[in-house]
Amino acid sequence: MNICMIGAGYVGLVSAACLSEFGWKVACIDKDASRVESLNRGEVPIYEPGLDDLLKRNIEGGRITFSTDLGPAIKSADLVFLAVGTPMRRGDGYADLSYVYSAVEEIAAHLDGFTVITTKSTVPVGTSREIERRLRSIRPDSDFAVCSNPEFLREGSAIRDFMHPDRILVGSDDERAKVVMERLYQPLALRDAPLMFVTRESAELAKYAANAFLALKISFINEVADLCEDLGADVQEVAKAIGKDGRIGDKFLHPGPGYGGSCFPKDVSALIRTAREARSPLSIIEQVQTVNDERKIAMGMRIEKAANGSVRDKRIAILGVTFKPNTDDMREAPSLTIVPLLQERGATVVVYDPQGRAHGEELLPGVTWCSDAMSACEGADVAVILTEWNEFRALNLSAVKEAMRGDVMVDLRNVFQASEATSSGLEYHSIGRVH
Ligand code: UDX
Repeated sequence: MNICMIGAGYVGLVSAACLSEFGWKVACIDKDASRVESLNRGEVPIYEPGLDDLLKRNIEGGRITFSTDLGPAIKSADLVFLAVGTPMRRGDGYADLSYVYSAVEEIAAHLDGFTVITTKSTVPVGTSREIERRLRSIRPDSDFAVCSNPEFLREGSAIRDFMHPDRILVGSDDERAKVVMERLYQPLALRDAPLMFVTRESAELAKYAANAFLALKISFINEVADLCEDLGADVQEVAKAIGKDGRIGDKFLHPGPGYGGSCFPKDVSALIRTAREARSPLSIIEQVQTVNDERKIAMGMRIEKAANGSVRDKRIAILGVTFKPNTDDMREAPSLTIVPLLQERGATVVVYDPQGRAHGEELLPGVTWCSDAMSACEGADVAVILTEWNEFRALNLSAVKEAMRGDVMVDLRNVFQASEATSSGLEYHSIGRVH
């Protein structure tokens, strides 16, 4: 089967690499010539564990190619994936579909023989139908079907998530398209991954509803963490206890400084907008968003409180600035709210992140970047764990305390045990736990 993946961004690149690993021939098309050139040299423009090797193997095997030239790839494709960006539109929080629709116009010009076109990026409900309408009006002579096939990949474990999905969701009302999609995912079906066929609208909405529900779990546990502190309970014990109930589940109940990333904030916002427009507002999800926005600010204030009420002229070491570990992605990261808040209040901020510097340098002006956690802690009054990178778990807390000028540690991810930190001489603050 010949596949054309339009968009060599995060979703496009991971999906294309994994599909080529199944043995399909994948032509990956991107408008960014320099990105295409570097991919052809085998350089991977994003940080995702395992992606370099996967791409290298499949480039060498001739199963994946990169180009800016869409025409030939569409002509020979049985299946075209749309994996272009759908950023949040400024002002109204709605998903910006201009990249999707401009790709659709280009596809229309080159369609040749029965072709399945499927959205992979998260798109508002009704987009697949609208893509079909546009293609029909440009090329009434052509033979195609439009599907929705949302991805559920997590950054940092995207390849594993692709290869071992909880489900594969395909929205389609075309029987020929279903046969193509079934064949495409045959290698995963052999591993018992359930392939679910639903309507296009259900597939599109399910993606938003899944992310909104996960965001809800996070905002819920973050509020429960605050309550735990007030009532003398331990949020980790509470989360574990409720998580044992299969109806609740133990995943996504880790309190923290608020969710970030390229999906949750954008998708929650777009779903709120869609629901309002449909006059069926999702008031719970609106509150999830508010709780998360306020959470990031509250965590900045918490650092200030831990620093004896003022960070003025204090040196604050921030360990981890990416929105989560195992990624270099800074999009909507809590650090983008917390670091400027500390700076505005007069703090000197020093930062270490294993992968965050490349994007972070521009996004966090005025901070000093360090090459490891210990040098960030050197002379610091307060050390803050903001992203739970594994390497922080192995920090020798006595050495951290020795290196610091002060002794305050604010652990916004509950990486350490309170007893371990206090016995190292640190004044330890974490979230949702009383110590
Ligand atoms: C998410 C979805 O999980 C994935 O299915 C979808 O396709 C894209 O969006 P991702 O953004 O990569 O994936 O990260 P995820 O691991 O879900 O974490 C999102 C945010 O929530 C991070 O900021 C993380 O720190 C936070 N989080 C997650 C918590 O604060 N607590 C948790 O228990 C889980």
